[in-house]
Amino acid sequence: MEFKAIPSPCFVLEEQLLVRNLELMEFVQKEAGISIIVALKGFAFYDSFPLVAKYLKGGTASSLNEAKLVYKKLKSKPHTYCATYVPSEFKQLLKCSSHLTFNSLSQWNTWSKQALKSKKCKHFGLRVNPGYSEIETALYDPASEQSRLGIPRNKFGDQLPEGINGLHFHALCENNSFTLEKVLDSFSALYDPFIKQVEWVNMGGGHLMTKEGYDILHLIQVLKAFKEKYPNLKEIILEPGSAVGWQTGVLKSTVLDIVDNGGKTTAMLDVSFTCHMPDCLEMPYKPKVRVGEQENGKYKYTFGWIRAVWQEILWMDFLLVKN
Ligand SMILES: Cc1ncc(COP(=O)(O)O)c(C=O)c1O
Repeated sequence: MEFKAIPSPCFVLEEQLLVRNLELMEFVQKEAGISIIVALKGFAFYDSFPLVAKYLKGGTASSLNEAKLVYKKLKSKPHTYCATYVPSEFKQLLKCSSHLTFNSLSQWNTWSKQALKSKKCKHFGLRVNPGYSEIETALYDPASEQSRLGIPRNKFGDQLPEGINGLHFHALCENNSFTLEKVLDSFSALYDPFIKQVEWVNMGGGHLMTKEGYDILHLIQVLKAFKEKYPNLKEIILEPGSAVGWQTGVLKSTVLDIVDNGGKTTAMLDVSFTCHMPDCLEMPYKPKVRVGEQENGKYKYTFGWIRAVWQEILWMDFLLVKN
């Protein structure tokens, strides 16, 4: 399709680039003998899910609607982790999920009776704080002492609660395999007796294995070493989101007006940071702007938004065309 024919605004995904990422992930799965599932938090481009399903082993959901999307579009049962389960949704999640993970012992105590009666879902896990991360933005650091995400070691107790057969941590954010290795050292040091008792470990997301320069062979080596250390584990799961869609496309936008007030020139766009690139406000990321025909960048504009159109959450390059 010619670029000009693509509507604006539009998230444009290039299929061959996605396939390239998926092939690499498939290689990791096969070589390391692990499962990779897509995290909808980081990649929710559901029209591409039939393609994703050919390479990855399903998806992870953090809400009922995400769980339904995994079921419908990836044609598999989601691994579900919600920081807290909403009473009106729990029954449905239990029915459609293959794995359910709980963020605290109180959440497990609340739902365990109902969960253990289920004939459909048999994999129940606890999210733990692995005690190490290299995430500098405090808001996103799930391994800090005060983190609300995951049970810290001193609250875990000495016994694995009855009915729990898996452990989960998520402590990476666009990190490499060397950081994963350090997280695993800390996770093993803190939870070793429990890892020996469970059947599965989910190592969360943040594994940016499709980024140029990522040492894939080292990742495979780290995963294999963990498997050898814990031969009791039937399944090791990674759930990256960003790595799936990493550099697979652009967000096309159009300059609809130029406003020059008080010495400040603002290009008025048909996209907004709030709706199309929320991570640019929270994290904050800075989009790479590719200015269509004006590639050599003579523009010096502030970008202003006009209207909110979509709510798709996806991080991508930002491609701007002159109206
Ligand atoms: C529990 C969990 N799993 C997976 C992910 C996906 O992370 P990423 O998109 O960085 O790979 C996230 C992101 O916040 C998460 O919180």
